[in-house]
Amino acid sequence: MEQAVFNVLSELEMRDERERMQNVPVGERILALNPDAAKLLYITALSANAKNIVEVGTNRGYSTIWLALVARKTGGKVTTCEIDPAKATEAQSYFEKAGLSDYIEVLVGDARETLRKFDTPVDLLFIDAVKGQYETYFDVMYKQLRVGSLVIADNAVSHGDALLDYIMYVQNHPNLESVTVPIGSGLEITIKARE
Ligand SMILES: C[S@@+](CC[C@H](N)C(=O)[O-])C[C@H]1O[C@@H](n2cnc3c(N)ncnc32)[C@H](O)[C@@H]1O
Repeated sequence: MEQAVFNVLSELEMRDERERMQNVPVGERILALNPDAAKLLYITALSANAKNIVEVGTNRGYSTIWLALVARKTGGKVTTCEIDPAKATEAQSYFEKAGLSDYIEVLVGDARETLRKFDTPVDLLFIDAVKGQYETYFDVMYKQLRVGSLVIADNAVSHGDALLDYIMYVQNHPNLESVTVPIGSGLEITIKARE
């Protein structure tokens, strides 16, 4: 990856670590995806040749930048949802600094509403927002998930209790295959295998 992207990712990783150590309140922290989990997200998305990528939970855009690197290679685009306008604005400045803003559209507002207008088939959905709402984000997007598309959800291990209903849902759904991968905070990786 080029220097500008590397620098922004490193800056966000250091900021995340600093905020954790200083006990900054959770609502103000950048809560970036674990770097190893981010790399697995990138590898998985790229190997799936994902073009149309949707993310729920931008924060300051750490995972979005990894996904935008995929979109740039595949000729696609990342649509990322953030409920907090101030975080969305700050994320945009990181996207510009990384030279990736052409590959990212930010939907500001509650993803449970903003994604209802989304009418394009999706190759990859990444979920990293309010833990008790994963099933709703999933349901809102389900009809747009093409067969073979992936849904990756963060915190499947760190918030295993809060995500239990979601994990049970995707692991027992007749059209899906799903596995919990213990990397970082835990990724639930799901494929829509059948219509
Ligand atoms: C864990 S952070 C996302 C971290 C980001 N994926 C990363 O790796 O840098 C979760 C974010 O989801 C946002 N959020 C919470 N509820 C939301 C909703 N209903 N729609 C859109 N964003 C939401 C929060 O404001 C917060 O910024």
